[in-house]
Amino acid sequence: MHIHIADTPGQVARDFAEFFEKWLAEKKEPVNIALSGGSTPAVLFRLWTEEYQDRIDWEKVHFFWGDERCVPPDDAESNFKMADDLFLTPAGVPSCNVHRLRGELPAEAEAGRYGEEIKECLAMKDGWPVFDLIMLGMGGDGHTASIFPHQMELLKAEEVCALAEHPVSGQERVTLTGHVLNNAREVAFLVTGQSKAEKVSAILNKAPGAADYPAAHVQPTHGQLHWFMDQKAAKGVDEK
Ligand code: 6PG
Repeated sequence: MHIHIADTPGQVARDFAEFFEKWLAEKKEPVNIALSGGSTPAVLFRLWTEEYQDRIDWEKVHFFWGDERCVPPDDAESNFKMADDLFLTPAGVPSCNVHRLRGELPAEAEAGRYGEEIKECLAMKDGWPVFDLIMLGMGGDGHTASIFPHQMELLKAEEVCALAEHPVSGQERVTLTGHVLNNAREVAFLVTGQSKAEKVSAILNKAPGAADYPAAHVQPTHGQLHWFMDQKAAKGVDEK
């Protein structure tokens, strides 16, 4: 596991952007990556537009989403909208590289359709699609993508994408499932803020009880796992 700790959320985004630039430079073929929603990616997306627009060959990157809220693409809750407003459109990413999860369609059917699109576009290994890189966040309850603690079965689901539900609002979501997360070549968590510290230290220090948090089960079978954090989120992490 690779642990990257920075002083501020802005620096976390910078560290990830630098990592990403180097990682992409080594790739000869186009890559398939999954984006997440959340607050740290918003900082990253602005940075990509402001400082990386001409430094990175965005035609080489195909964008998917690790999860999406079941809302139209112009809804303030849409993960696509956030990425599109802050980065995809302003940075001029070609629209044929953007593989949107259609939150406006009936969720269960869209989970099936998006799973098929992913299988058509990505290489397969052990029966599951292989993302080159999946970006993830972690919520205060230990959820990641839209796999929440009350739906741990999604970690072992037999589908590429599944229907999920936010535990408080009941909002429908579509999420990548556990086998797909763990089949990626690289997985990078971007986690910031004091409210995450307790769960982060339980997961990274392998404390008893950490298994209750979905994020603890993201451990790529063949790939690399990175946690990019600010000091506040990483407060209790025992860096050996
Ligand atoms: C979403 C996410 C979700 C997110 C975490 C962390 O759509 O809600 O993809 O898994 O990454 O909730 O969000 P923050 O970075 O805002 O804490």
